[in-house]
Amino acid sequence: MNYDVQAAECRQRIEAALKTAIPATVVEPLRGAMEYALLAPGKRLRPMLLLEAHGMLSPAGNDVMDFAVALEMIHAYSLVHDDLPAMDNDVLRRGQPTCHVAYGEAMAILAGDGLLNLAHELMLASAHPRALRAAHEISACAGVHGMVGGQALDIAHTGHAVDRALIERMQTGKTAALFRAAVCGGLILAGADEAQLAAGADYSLGLGRAFQIIDDLLDLHGDAAQLGKTPGKDEAEGKLTWPAAVGESQAREDARYWTQFAVDALAPFGDRATFLRETALRALNRIS
Ligand code: IPE
Ligand code: IPE
Ligand code: MG
Ligand code: MG
Ligand code: MG
Repeated sequence: MNYDVQAAECRQRIEAALKTAIPATVVEPLRGAMEYALLAPGKRLRPMLLLEAHGMLSPAGNDVMDFAVALEMIHAYSLVHDDLPAMDNDVLRRGQPTCHVAYGEAMAILAGDGLLNLAHELMLASAHPRALRAAHEISACAGVHGMVGGQALDIAHTGHAVDRALIERMQTGKTAALFRAAVCGGLILAGADEAQLAAGADYSLGLGRAFQIIDDLLDLHGDAAQLGKTPGKDEAEGKLTWPAAVGESQAREDARYWTQFAVDALAPFGDRATFLRETALRALNRIS
């Protein structure tokens, strides 16, 4: 199938599931704040990767969608907290005022907490035979040894001198880990063996490193209307970024290197990996 058609179909299924994911019983304005963050127009890259990684080994089943929704909830929570005044202090996200601008700081913190916990409720309520192992992988990737750990390095070293090894560790945590949650979560649900999981983890590392380097480059030259967030913030805040460490042209070269690393890692999946391969190649040239 043509990549654009496959991606659009996949995204449509995800959007439909996200729309009904937050129970009507959640109190207001918490529910409104959670929906505001979750339903804002994101690229849905992580849930798509989860479904498509699963699809490489197993036919699509609705029992996997809960995990895709849970992962997008975790990603959305990470963005709400990342934008808070105490963290990156951003006012624009996905083309709309950030959650704390719209709902106030306290409610934005709670909306993030709510999305994170709801994600775990969803995964732990799943009757899928491999639910527990997949939930563990996704939690581990999202937590202190993954995204949260990377975000902590980002915050602790803002304004510090450039340290390449530290930036690599930070980007592997804050960005690549949620791609690993997607790909390895999907593969686990599909019953992948250890070699396939290792290949999925390598792909995610490559995609994640390239994705964050491009994010850093877009912060330098991107357009607010295209990006849906305010460019120029990294330098203003003293963030440690890959272009600041190695220069822009080397950073672009390194993004290409990590993209190729991701593509090469897919070799064991052969033709089944077309969607994941194309996703990595397109992420390299993205403008949003
Ligand atoms: C933003 O992720 C956070 C980073 C890891 C750079 P995305 O660029 O995937 O954001 P959305 O989901 O499309 O808004
Ligand atoms: C953080 O990276 C990614 C997260 C884990 C939320 P950035 O802080 O660079 O992400 P953006 O640019 O705000 O999306
Ligand atoms: Mg940040
Ligand atoms: Mg940020
Ligand atoms: Mg950024």
